[in-house]
Amino acid sequence: MINKDKIIKDFKKKIKLIKNHNKYYFERDNPQISDAEYDSLKREILELEKKYKFLKDLKLFEKNIGSPPSNKFKKVKHLSPMLSLSNAFDKSEMQDFIKKINNFLNLTDPNLEFTSEPKIDGISASLIYEKGILTQGLSRGDGEVGEDILENLKTISTIPKKINEKQIPDLLEVRCEIFIGKKDFKNLEEKFANPRNAAGGSLRQKDPKVTAKIPLKYFAYGFGTIIPITFTKQLEFLKKIESWGFIVNPLIKKVKGLEEIETRHKEIDKLRSSLNYDIDGLVFKVNDVKLQKRLGNTSNSPRWATAYKFSAERAVTKIKDIIIQVGRTGAITPVAKVEPVTVGGVVVSNATLHNEEEIQRKDIRIGDIINIQRAGDVIPQVVSVDLSKREKSSSPFKFPKKCLCGAETKKEISKNTNKLDAVRRCLKGYECKFTAKEKLKHLVSKEAFNIDGLGKKVVEQFWNLNLIKEPSDIFKLNYKRIKSLEGWGELSIKNLQKAITNSKKINLDKFIYSIGIRHIGQENAKILADFFISIHEFSNLFSNSKRIQILKNLVELDGIGETQTDSIDSFFSNKKNVEITLNLINQLSIGNYFSKKKGGKFSNKKMMFTGSFNNMSRSEAKSIAEDNGGKVLGSVSKKLDFLVVGNTKPTKRKIDQAKALKIKIVTENDWNKMLNNS
Ligand code: IVH
Repeated sequence: MINKDKIIKDFKKKIKLIKNHNKYYFERDNPQISDAEYDSLKREILELEKKYKFLKDLKLFEKNIGSPPSNKFKKVKHLSPMLSLSNAFDKSEMQDFIKKINNFLNLTDPNLEFTSEPKIDGISASLIYEKGILTQGLSRGDGEVGEDILENLKTISTIPKKINEKQIPDLLEVRCEIFIGKKDFKNLEEKFANPRNAAGGSLRQKDPKVTAKIPLKYFAYGFGTIIPITFTKQLEFLKKIESWGFIVNPLIKKVKGLEEIETRHKEIDKLRSSLNYDIDGLVFKVNDVKLQKRLGNTSNSPRWATAYKFSAERAVTKIKDIIIQVGRTGAITPVAKVEPVTVGGVVVSNATLHNEEEIQRKDIRIGDIINIQRAGDVIPQVVSVDLSKREKSSSPFKFPKKCLCGAETKKEISKNTNKLDAVRRCLKGYECKFTAKEKLKHLVSKEAFNIDGLGKKVVEQFWNLNLIKEPSDIFKLNYKRIKSLEGWGELSIKNLQKAITNSKKINLDKFIYSIGIRHIGQENAKILADFFISIHEFSNLFSNSKRIQILKNLVELDGIGETQTDSIDSFFSNKKNVEITLNLINQLSIGNYFSKKKGGKFSNKKMMFTGSFNNMSRSEAKSIAEDNGGKVLGSVSKKLDFLVVGNTKPTKRKIDQAKALKIKIVTENDWNKMLNNS
């Protein structure tokens, strides 16, 4: 006689396993088994269902979707980078956004024109048309390099494969957001946490036939490279591509000034639940393309656009525990472990409590009933405590003074404000295993080494197994050992090996960012790389005697201040850090940094600005200088090639210093002439 219970139990185990693998593929983008292994598991499930009808009746398995591909898609560099957006959460942040734009452009126009566009919560893609024919379709990837998902994109019938117009650009890059309608998602609910995951999962199927089964839609919202460019406004572009057959969101509208922005935000917020697609805010873009060009980008996002998010969704839950987490800079962050609760379609079981002061200020305690909020992709936060529900026996939370590694923690005095930092830190660096683990996670992240298949979870797993303890270990992995681990098949190991080998070639700017010196983000890493050019020069920082002089020179760079030089100093004063960095360098081939902006009219010229200018802000003047190959310094020194003096309120001391050092002085008039002479 068959043991029905046992069969069901075993079957459920297999379903759990396959769901787990689906998650690795779809949600974490990190398949753990090969195609063949996955297929054989799927086959077993199907055969069991065939053999025992009662299993099929359980309806636990849907076979149409969820066959994860093993091989990654081909990587292709974007013609223009795919940036992300800065966020604004309320009216005053939108006011700041408008003010910053005006400041940068040296304008005082409260009625600057913007487009207001629903921010679709889907997956972005780039469509490239050569003479009107769709020739390439890429996912966003890390923003610089995407993946070739053309065949999958082609299954979306509403994406034009050919533009049937005479007057079209030779090269046209259309940016769009792919999504699944809320109604269609109803049928997929069991498989995915939300429509966004479902769209991502579907788009990244290896077999386009599988993608075709899932009803994907899209809205086109922007452009990358276009040759020749024949429009001057964002709205004009959208109208044009709509007439060429692209689908553009019907709610896009032109608005002027803060009040209209606010009104539109409220209107669309009201409409939000009635739309057939998820939106998490409105994107506001400067309508004038010329102004967009002048404004340019910071390292990750354009200055001319921002996402004005809708207010956060809230829910009530209970704090089960408060734990502390250690970040890669040693920062100790308290985290509330809460009873799982759905907030805006996502199950939340952790909420950040920021720091010790925040816990004290809100008097947050274990056992409290709290109001929790989640806004877009921001980590959930505790808004308030319901004191009426507090148990009598509860007592204030005692914030631990020690790190998880046992070392004392400290609050430092901030150089900028001269005040005691709110954040406690463990200062042990790599000697603290908790900090070290986070440093490794940073090192493999997208913006750093970007190693496919080596995500946070895998770093955690490899760390616990002693396979990786410091960055250089990544390049000496014991693959035999990994092969014996559950979930690792031949193919996933081969892919990992390949991704790791590829990542050995890294440019100096990414390398500097990757080693995780506090206060050295992507932008600062680029400034430093531009200064050192080669890893050989950079390595001089390791020597205590040479470092002092180098740091003095570094402070002169625009964008590098004492906060940064102090941090670099303390990083390399630590012997362990130097040893770990050297071990890593030995495994790599680090390319020299060549600024993309080398060859302009100010190529290699060191310049500085003082005073205000009539028709541009100092920020814009600096950004023009850099775009044309110049290096902007932050103080007057012998190295300066010239000092550009704006007509309004220049600093006399700087001019005097420059004169004493016989440095060329460029007046505002001369500067304008220099810009106009090509
Ligand atoms: S503009 C350089 N417009 O939001 C400008 N993005 O957080 C970058 N998105 O990656 C994007 N709707 O996937 C823009 N109307 C819209 C959008 C939109 C959705 C997504 C897009 C982008 C992300 C930025």
